[in-house]
Amino acid sequence: MVQLSFPVILFFSLFVPSLSLSDVARNGDTRSQCIVTPGNSSDIDDVPAILDALTTCGTGGRVIFTNNTYHINSVMNTTWLDDVEIDLQGTLLWSTNISYWLNHSLPVGYQNQSTAWILGGTDIVFDGHGYGTFNGSGTTWYKYVGSTSNYPGRPNQLTVSGAKGAVFRGLRFVQSQMWTMSIIHTSNAWFDSIYVNNLYDNGDSAQNTDGANTIYSHNITFTNWEVLNGDDSISTKANSTDITIADSTFSSGLGIAIGSIGQYNGAYETVEHLHISNITYEKTTHAVYFKTWTGDQVGYPPNGGGGGLGFASNITATNLKTNNLKGTPFTISQCTTFSGASGNCTNSKFQIRDLVFRDISGTTESADVASFQCSAVAPCEDITIEKVDLRITGNTTYAGEYLCGNVEGTVGFNCTGAVCVGSSATGGC
Ligand SMILES: *[C@@H]1O[C@H](CO)[C@@H](O)[C@H](O)[C@H]1NC(C)=O
Ligand SMILES: *[C@@H]1O[C@H](CO)[C@@H](O)[C@H](O)[C@H]1NC(C)=O
Ligand SMILES: *[C@@H]1O[C@H](CO)[C@@H](O)[C@H](O)[C@H]1NC(C)=O
Ligand SMILES: *[C@@H]1O[C@H](CO)[C@@H](O)[C@H](O)[C@H]1NC(C)=O
Ligand SMILES: *[C@@H]1O[C@H](CO)[C@@H](O)[C@H](O)[C@H]1NC(C)=O
Ligand SMILES: *[C@@H]1O[C@H](CO)[C@@H](O)[C@H](O)[C@H]1NC(C)=O
Ligand SMILES: *[C@@H]1O[C@H](CO)[C@@H](O)[C@H](O)[C@H]1NC(C)=O
Ligand SMILES: *[C@@H]1O[C@H](CO)[C@@H](O)[C@H](O)[C@H]1NC(C)=O
Ligand SMILES: *[C@@H]1O[C@H](CO)[C@@H](O)[C@H](O)[C@H]1NC(C)=O
Ligand SMILES: *[C@@H]1O[C@H](CO)[C@@H](O)[C@H](O)[C@H]1NC(C)=O
Ligand SMILES: *[C@@H]1O[C@H](CO)[C@@H](O)[C@H](O)[C@H]1NC(C)=O
Ligand SMILES: *[C@@H]1O[C@H](CO)[C@@H](O)[C@H](O)[C@H]1NC(C)=O
Repeated sequence: MVQLSFPVILFFSLFVPSLSLSDVARNGDTRSQCIVTPGNSSDIDDVPAILDALTTCGTGGRVIFTNNTYHINSVMNTTWLDDVEIDLQGTLLWSTNISYWLNHSLPVGYQNQSTAWILGGTDIVFDGHGYGTFNGSGTTWYKYVGSTSNYPGRPNQLTVSGAKGAVFRGLRFVQSQMWTMSIIHTSNAWFDSIYVNNLYDNGDSAQNTDGANTIYSHNITFTNWEVLNGDDSISTKANSTDITIADSTFSSGLGIAIGSIGQYNGAYETVEHLHISNITYEKTTHAVYFKTWTGDQVGYPPNGGGGGLGFASNITATNLKTNNLKGTPFTISQCTTFSGASGNCTNSKFQIRDLVFRDISGTTESADVASFQCSAVAPCEDITIEKVDLRITGNTTYAGEYLCGNVEGTVGFNCTGAVCVGSSATGGC
């Protein structure tokens, strides 16, 4: 062992006995290994040591964070990883120097979003063993931005960008600065056993604290997620295809979102082949909801836009359980326009079709099972809803209303009334 510059990186070329047998079987004894030594002070930025470790062991090696707290005081761009195992046993704690992050957050590549860490490459395994933690110190941000949606420079916690083949598992994310994860230009990635808690300590929720967002990404699997937040639990945005969301619990946020989409005037974007199953919802607003911008462009992203083209299709959600859902389980709203206000709800050219919602049970506060406010220009087509068993919370009656506007082709249900076209950006009024 050689003492390098402070903070120290230890470099081993030989097998270290703390590894499990499966690691040995997969990697043999030759995987190079870097252990990142923490500086143990908020005044010491651990980022240079982390970047050194990823540079030394980020191709064909293993980077280990021990069970300590690492202080992350600056941005990281590690998009060039190749065949790496990142082993997080401790906590990565992000600093609260707001002026630093506002000035230095890295662009995500969509909606003017920015991020604290952009990570990508080929064949990445990032394992937190169920306790490795990202702590974004988010309450500082929630208080700072107040009610400003998409505050410029407020960072996403982690952006997985340009990854081809990746497994993230056993990770905990607490109080992310903004969205916990953006996943962009990524394919063949599996996110398993991920815990996200973006609530204030007292349980209050904060906006724009999405669990994960997929953008320009394909074949992405989310399993065994638990998300407690105040916004989209998981959201699939522009050009998300072959996405699976399964075996997960979502609490107090909005539920699974498709969109927002159609924000870029003239841009053609799709969401296709989305499979959702075995989800438990605890007091979320919806189970699955769609949100598109209107056909009119008003302003520019992130807070303005509209006029986008494309479609969402082949989306299936089965085996859903609800506990005191706060709103309508299945909604479509095509009304989003500048600053979240409601615009012309019927002129979007973005089409929603081939949806299947099957087997939902539990309790809800709404008598409506569905509220589909679709565009007149590109009506919704072919929607199936089957096996609904939703009791109204604290009531003996069952939810049984299906409100429709411009829906063509229903299976398993008949529309029972006209949709309320109003100011909610997530459906209904
Ligand atoms: C920080 O603390 C850990 C755990 O006690 C220790 O292993 C490490 O060497 C310390 N770092 C420095 C720079 O002293
Ligand atoms: C990590 O360290 C903390 C504090 O010393 C301890 O409570 C915890 O059990 C350790 N976790 C693991 C997985 O060793
Ligand atoms: C951030 O940038 C602004 C100008 O854009 C500058 O005035 C300010 O000093 C910068 N702050 C930091 C912490 O770099
Ligand atoms: C915040 O970061 C800026 C650099 O952007 C630095 O000048 C300033 O000293 C930092 N503030 C604190 C409290 O660390
Ligand atoms: C990250 O670094 C790569 C070079 O390794 C560069 O091409 C890319 O533009 C950087 N990304 C950001 C968001 O700064
Ligand atoms: C999809 O991604 C998974 C990893 O999550 C991979 O095992 C599988 O081969 C990929 N499927 C295709 C068709 O590439
Ligand atoms: C459903 O998901 C839960 C986790 O939320 C899991 O414990 C359970 O095994 C899953 N059930 C099936 C049949 O996969
Ligand atoms: C999104 O997908 C559409 C249709 O497949 C394609 O035409 C468009 O170029 C894609 N956009 C981006 C930015 O990849
Ligand atoms: C619909 O999506 C599923 C994946 O969820 C896929 O297996 C199936 O082939 C798709 N169907 C069509 C018609 O594309
Ligand atoms: C909304 O758009 C539709 C479809 O283009 C149009 O017929 C209608 O007049 C518009 N409504 C208003 C209030 O502009
Ligand atoms: C039960 O639900 C029905 C239909 O929504 C409503 O009219 C009634 O007032 C509710 N009763 C109670 C006790 O909440
Ligand atoms: C829908 O209405 C049609 C015509 O009244 C009826 O035949 C059909 O059984 C209804 N479907 C359901 C699911 O209630």
